[in-house]
Amino acid sequence: MKIYFNLISLVFFLWACNSGKKVEKEVLEEVNQSMEIKKVSEAEILNESLKWGNEIAEEAQKELMSALQKAIADKGVSGAIEYCNAQAFPLVEKVGEKHGVEVSRVSHNYRNPADQPNEMEAMLLDAYEYNEENGIESKPNIQEIDGGEVLLYTKAIKIPGGLCLNCHGEPGKDISAETLMKLDELYPKDKAKGHKVGDLRGIWSIAIPKKEVVKRL
Ligand code: HEC
Repeated sequence: MKIYFNLISLVFFLWACNSGKKVEKEVLEEVNQSMEIKKVSEAEILNESLKWGNEIAEEAQKELMSALQKAIADKGVSGAIEYCNAQAFPLVEKVGEKHGVEVSRVSHNYRNPADQPNEMEAMLLDAYEYNEENGIESKPNIQEIDGGEVLLYTKAIKIPGGLCLNCHGEPGKDISAETLMKLDELYPKDKAKGHKVGDLRGIWSIAIPKKEVVKRL
């Protein structure tokens, strides 16, 4: 695509050399422009995808948090589990649809089996966990997937505070008997309990088509 564009510019340029100064200037500008387009290159695309990924993850996080807080206020913690069971996944999906990307939360210690990582996500999760275990701060990350057509943005999801422990902490200590019953009923294979504040709970995984990023530049 880039080569094609530059070839056209070159043809114009050569042609313009024979046909007066004004055109030549315009064409020169076009050539410069095409070089600028080339300069947009990978670094700019990666920066933009990182920025956009951050924005989308933050938006999805905010929506989830306000829905969670509202559900707890309306129905209590155990009632909110049913709400999360029915609504968390579609809510995250909807944020993705709005932006033309695919958003999910994945974890090795998943509660909803739909939040299991795929092969690439599992590798990335391993890296986030490695960092966590070794006290290294994990920054959001971009990986090229699908032969470079899609950029996979990932970001750590940590347990920021005690609110999460109501449903992700120690049974008996943080998780009440009533809540535990509800969790066991809805998620018999739940792996998402036993956490402490500051733990890595999973990652945001946002698959962004590269062409959508280019459109934003
Ligand atoms: C009211 C109980 C409740 C609270 C409080 C809660 N969660 Fe969850 N969490 C759930 C349920 C239920 C699911 C599974 C949702 C589903 O079925 O899609 C879940 C799923 C998740 C997932 C997706 C991965 C997985 O295990 O399926 C992440 C990440 C997560 N929670 C993080 C948090 C964080 C961080 C907090 C605190 C800000 C928090 N949760 C607070 C109940 C809760």
